[in-house]
Amino acid sequence: MELPEEYKRGFKDFLGIKIDLSKRPLIPRPETEHWVKWFIAQNHGKIKCLDLFSGSGCVGVAVLKNIKDSICHFGEIDNSFLEQIKINCNDIDDSRYKIIKTDIFSNINEKYDYILANPPYVAKNRISEVGEDVIEYEPHIALFSGEDGMKAINKFIAEVKNYLNDGGYAIMEFDPQQKGEIKEGEFYKDQFGEYRFVIIRK
Ligand SMILES: C[S@@+](CC[C@H](N)C(=O)[O-])C[C@H]1O[C@@H](n2cnc3c(N)ncnc32)[C@H](O)[C@@H]1O
Repeated sequence: MELPEEYKRGFKDFLGIKIDLSKRPLIPRPETEHWVKWFIAQNHGKIKCLDLFSGSGCVGVAVLKNIKDSICHFGEIDNSFLEQIKINCNDIDDSRYKIIKTDIFSNINEKYDYILANPPYVAKNRISEVGEDVIEYEPHIALFSGEDGMKAINKFIAEVKNYLNDGGYAIMEFDPQQKGEIKEGEFYKDQFGEYRFVIIRK
């Protein structure tokens, strides 16, 4: 099994930004790029965001670099990925971001206009559908969450409104097969025609 090209090279392009992958976080996916681009197109000005389940930090870094005057906090559980986010924020003014070690919302103490989340969501019984190279080289903490892949999603949905300002929304990525399990929100498709992200408004 060959090491993925992106890890060999050490970075991945995400919306035109070079995202460092030296700490081996999840390799950013084009489906994620799609909804982050959608989000950036709708927003401007002094918005305050939380990029939860940050990994490389690609989501929040794209927001900070594309939305002038925006603020973004990053929430992530894994120490080496917290380091990775720091590396990817190296050319951003440090008054615009904060990196928080947290287990979902355990350490989040503020409210946000927007919460952007790409949680681990692969079901264990769908392991055979995930590429062998993904299983071998990408971090399992970034992929799996309970037998059905719903553990982090369910906790996120149950608590997210406590961390949103009125009039704000959360945007969360999921596996198209999980759509029926997600009981609230407006559903949107990715560039491949699959339901991939949901908006939950407060
Ligand atoms: C699917 S990856 C998303 C990475 C990046 N945001 C992206 O879109 O490419 C999920 C990330 O959530 C982190 N994570 C897993 N469980 C978590 C938890 N309970 N609390 C916070 N972060 C968690 C993983 O370490 C991983 O970096």
